[in-house]
Amino acid sequence: MSAAIHPDELAVLAGLLSQNDPKAKPPNPAHISKLVERGCLIEQEGITQYHLRFTPIELWQDYLDWSLDRGATLTRMDIHVYRETSSTQDVAKRLGPNPVVVLADQQSAGRGRLGRRWESSPASAVLMSMRLPMTMCNATHDRMSLIAGLTVARVIEQLHPEARVRLKWPNDVMVDGQKIAGVLIEKVPGAFIVGIGLNVSEAPDLGNESINTSTCLKNLGPAPDRLFLIEQLIIEFQLRLRLSRDVLALWRPRAAIGQIHTFEHNAQHITGEVLDLDPDHGLIVRRDTGEIITLPAATTSVVK
Ligand code: BTN
Repeated sequence: MSAAIHPDELAVLAGLLSQNDPKAKPPNPAHISKLVERGCLIEQEGITQYHLRFTPIELWQDYLDWSLDRGATLTRMDIHVYRETSSTQDVAKRLGPNPVVVLADQQSAGRGRLGRRWESSPASAVLMSMRLPMTMCNATHDRMSLIAGLTVARVIEQLHPEARVRLKWPNDVMVDGQKIAGVLIEKVPGAFIVGIGLNVSEAPDLGNESINTSTCLKNLGPAPDRLFLIEQLIIEFQLRLRLSRDVLALWRPRAAIGQIHTFEHNAQHITGEVLDLDPDHGLIVRRDTGEIITLPAATTSVVK
């Protein structure tokens, strides 16, 4: 998708998305009008204050290419935007070998972990998959899962410092006990595919998952612009990847260490107390038999 948007308008869009520079010159009203003509929803407050509520998907590609070229992230990633696709995971698997971000408004065959479906209404969620060549992420499957979940949690916390954001091992992001986002890590030769589904304006039905309630960002305040969330997720993810040694220290306070849970692993139900987390190998659990085991993220689900 290309909207051939002028760099001056992209700079105004960047300013509206970040809204963080009180010293910045007020935007040129002509550029604001142009963005509105292009489908942006912008609210004006006073004479020079503007709030960006919505950026149409047609502008995402140009904006992210421009922003990433200007060094918003540490590693340049190719951006691919689709109005509809089967699953952004599948598209990311076919692309490469460069680092890639695949985004969609809607998926016809969105996947969750352990063969589950991932459903969301059009334009209601961030649906993204990042293809990360091994040169970019020398990490295990378990560590990638923690990094991705932590990334989402931190982006939500930056928007809502008062929200109780928790990480439910291995891949669920929860707010007040309800699932707000899920992460799917898949491996192809030479790369990890990291999928993130973040509910923005709708809390979807979770189907056959063990957690039966979901929530969305709109339940915490005005629904943020998805382009803003996407840019923050890419930046935060790359930062967490670079600082991957810190992941455990940041994960622990947000996790349910010390609680008793039942897990399904290798078609077996295992009940035990969560003792700790090994970031590269999984959850460390003391079974009710006293035996201490490590459950890997890729093959374990939490039953209750
Ligand atoms: C889960 O909670 O089970 C993981 C859900 C992951 C969903 C995302 S949406 C974007 C990407 N494409 C998919 O098909 N799945 C992931």
